[in-house]
Amino acid sequence: MSVGAQAAIAVKGLKKAFGSVDVIRGIDISFPRHEKHLIIGPNGAGKTTFFNLLNGQYAPSAGRIEFLDVDVTHMPIRQRALLGLGRTFQIASLFQDLSVRDNLRIAAGAPQAAQRSDLRAEENMEIALSFCGLKAKADGAVRHLSYGEQRRLEIAMGLATAPQVLLLDEPMAGLTQIERGIVAERILEVSTATSILLIEHDLEVALKLADKLTVLHLGEVIAHGPVESVMDDPFVRQIYLG
Ligand SMILES: Nc1ncnc2c1ncn2[C@@H]1O[C@H](COP(=O)(O)OP(=O)(O)O)[C@@H](O)[C@H]1O
Ligand SMILES: [Mg+2]
Repeated sequence: MSVGAQAAIAVKGLKKAFGSVDVIRGIDISFPRHEKHLIIGPNGAGKTTFFNLLNGQYAPSAGRIEFLDVDVTHMPIRQRALLGLGRTFQIASLFQDLSVRDNLRIAAGAPQAAQRSDLRAEENMEIALSFCGLKAKADGAVRHLSYGEQRRLEIAMGLATAPQVLLLDEPMAGLTQIERGIVAERILEVSTATSILLIEHDLEVALKLADKLTVLHLGEVIAHGPVESVMDDPFVRQIYLG
């Protein structure tokens, strides 16, 4: 890494065990800012657990996590979000009876129908609304949205705080080919201002987006670097091609 380049996220000796099961077995890695990082690995590799450690959902068993050079290892979720780490939401956490706009307000930490004077917050909201392509449905209840629209709203909620770094865990899962294309385009748009860490199974779409690729296997990073060189790695090919 070049001198003075700030990492979006850097971890050292990161471990997580659930009972006697070692799920994350010692990860040392640095994700430079202003890049789109794709993280892949077989089911059960520990990808989601890794994100849950980064965002503060889980406390690590060992190791250290830095976010924009700040040690956040023991910092609560909310405080990490205030520093600029985008929280991801899941459909299960959407308020189905509230409007799209109010869900975005809640994600941004603003009370409903308040913050009129906070231009910045309103601006972020409009960006998030156009991100999910739901401007026309902004005042309707979330329960009237299709599955694909709700998945897009999840991501938009992650963007509502205008984060420095956004963690996206399989945002394209369950979407149609067309919807996946839309999500990919939106990720490209927001990545001009936001560093992206993306877990995704659809390699055809995700590899086109990514600057760097990280492969997780049994709780360890087995390859990390520019997409082409990682995809050429014999061990990675073995895992993915048979
Ligand atoms: N809260 C938990 N308690 C116990 N085991 C867990 C927990 N979360 C994840 N695991 C286990 O950790 C392993 C990795 O899971 P996960 O991080 O979800 O993998 P991935 O996202 O790569 O598919 C799995 O074996 C899973 O059963
Ligand atoms: Mg997962």
